[in-house]
Amino acid sequence: MEFDEVVRGRRSIRTFSTAEVSDELVEALIDCALRAPSSMNGQPWRFIVVRSAETKGRLAETKDKYCPPGKREYPAGFLRGAPVVVITCIERAKAFDRGIESGVLATGHLLLAAASRGLTGVYMSAYKTGAPEVADEIRTILGVPAEIDPITIVPIGYPGDVAGPKTVMSAAEVVFHEAFGRK
Ligand SMILES: Cc1cc2nc3c(=O)[nH]c(=O)nc-3n(C[C@H](O)[C@H](O)[C@H](O)COP(=O)(O)O)c2cc1C
Repeated sequence: MEFDEVVRGRRSIRTFSTAEVSDELVEALIDCALRAPSSMNGQPWRFIVVRSAETKGRLAETKDKYCPPGKREYPAGFLRGAPVVVITCIERAKAFDRGIESGVLATGHLLLAAASRGLTGVYMSAYKTGAPEVADEIRTILGVPAEIDPITIVPIGYPGDVAGPKTVMSAAEVVFHEAFGRK
């Protein structure tokens, strides 16, 4: 698929078909993720690949437990239906104070790599600013050591549904020239 076609076609679909996602395919996605830019080229990533139904259920419970009322449009239970869930973590010592950015960029690569192969992935945060108990609970579920920060949780699978329409802002609305506000 052409790159632009991948970008335009990528969507977060929260219903998955029963088709399996092989280990080789997951490795190919992660191979794209670990080529993302990172602060000082620290490449601080660690990826945990989860297929266990029990672990998926515990991750969903934790996400829902800490989800504020204003953000409950998408309960996390859908991740139980994903054949595979990839958690992107960061080794703080290699992150040069930019662990979140590096983790998020790697996750962006992962999502686009998935889309280019006909898969859907859904971005979910694995930490909450000001609430370290969220990352701590995820650390406990996954056996992640204290010096490693979980950043994102991405359920991945073949779509079991078709995405609804998405309205995207036009460049004319958001692009300025030379100074903010100048069209
Ligand atoms: C920082 C961030 C946090 C998100 N958190 C969640 C989440 O907790 N649960 C969820 O189902 N989707 C989550 N999403 C996915 C967005 O809902 C989704 O990307 C958005 O609705 C646009 O839809 P699209 O990905 O199909 O273009 C998150 C996305 C981002 C970038």
